[in-house]
Amino acid sequence: MNVSVIGGGYVGLVTGACLSELGHNIEIVELDETKVARINKRDSPIYEEGLSDILNRHTGKRLIARSDYNGIPDSLITFICVGTPESEDGSANLNYIISASQSIGKALKGSKKPHTIIVKSTVPPGTTENIVAPEVIAHSGRPEGTIRFGMNPEFLREGRAVYDFFHPDRIVIGTNDARTFNEIKELYADLKAPILHTSLVAAEMIKYTSNAFLATKISFSNEIGNICKKLGIDVYEVMEGVGLDSRIGPLFLNAGAGFGGSCFPKDVSALIRLAKSLGYEPDILSAVMKVNEAQPERLIEILKKHLSNLKNKRICILGLAFKDNTDDIRESRALVIIRLLLKESAEIIAFDPLAMDATRAVFPEIEYAQSAAEALNNADACLIMTEWPEFSSLNSEFEKMKTKVIIEGRKVLKRKDIEGICW
Ligand code: UDX
Repeated sequence: MNVSVIGGGYVGLVTGACLSELGHNIEIVELDETKVARINKRDSPIYEEGLSDILNRHTGKRLIARSDYNGIPDSLITFICVGTPESEDGSANLNYIISASQSIGKALKGSKKPHTIIVKSTVPPGTTENIVAPEVIAHSGRPEGTIRFGMNPEFLREGRAVYDFFHPDRIVIGTNDARTFNEIKELYADLKAPILHTSLVAAEMIKYTSNAFLATKISFSNEIGNICKKLGIDVYEVMEGVGLDSRIGPLFLNAGAGFGGSCFPKDVSALIRLAKSLGYEPDILSAVMKVNEAQPERLIEILKKHLSNLKNKRICILGLAFKDNTDDIRESRALVIIRLLLKESAEIIAFDPLAMDATRAVFPEIEYAQSAAEALNNADACLIMTEWPEFSSLNSEFEKMKTKVIIEGRKVLKRKDIEGICW
């Protein structure tokens, strides 16, 4: 099928590239010319495992990027994969969704060919029906019914997005008519996964609910972890026993410094905002955020127990990305920790295998090391902030520290002479 994808960010680029791997012809529409040039040169603007191989196979053949909407009428389907960032009041900012819908509408003006528009961005329930569809129809000047709409949320984890695309737990297709459902289903015909047909609004809500539930599992584990720490119990042993209950499941029960990234914090905030706007006080969701925000402060409290005064103390931070296998630092707990340490006038030296350039742009004032060993050299304390597997093999490197205070915000080390945020 000929498919256009609006947005060449994490979701758009991965979706477009993976659809080209499934045999579809993909045109990615991205307004940033630099990104367009990089995609067309097979130089991925983001780090995502397996993505470069796909770009190498299909760019210039089944996959191209461009910065205008002129190719839209030649495609049968257009995916909207633009960002829905957090507004100041916590709600989802739909500006990019609105401008993409208007541009698609204008591009479809005059065309008589059938066209289906599928929203993949995370949007509050009702957005596809009440914002996207009317904007497209109004700007296309076409009669209602000649353009159809669907909502097909993504469940891609950063760093593992290509794997997740090809091995989904489920494919959710929200449409209000069977024809659109069958068309979208056909796109994914080669993937083995249960396909769920829902209403447009339910598909939109499934995405928020999934992210909110996963975030709840993490904050719940952190709360249990905080209690376990006071009792001297290993929360990881506890959660292993809890996760073996098939009604609960073993994943997303890792206690630690809390969740970051481009999805959980923004989506839980947007759901809270939405609930409040409807006159409902979402106590559980608010507590999920509260526990998450308090975890970095707990880490600093533990650090202060060891070093009392942090002024001019040399603190080594291992891990800056919001999780392993990505260069993304959005909402990373490491950045919250850096801010708190700077307030205490600590001296910071950081190392991350992928995320140092991004962090340097936010915190040019701190020191960056070329390796974990260099960062640990002469440090008064070390905080482990990202679950990078390579940190688990650090051992003799800790001997170079001035004082061996090692505190884990993520459980990666095997040694006994350390303390964890909740273990
Ligand atoms: C998430 C969802 O998993 C994905 O389905 C959705 O489409 C986008 O948001 P992502 O943000 O890429 O994906 O990362 P994820 O692996 O879910 O981790 C999010 C955060 O939670 C990270 O900061 C991670 O360190 C933290 N986490 C995760 C925990 O603290 N404990 C866990 O058990 C799991």
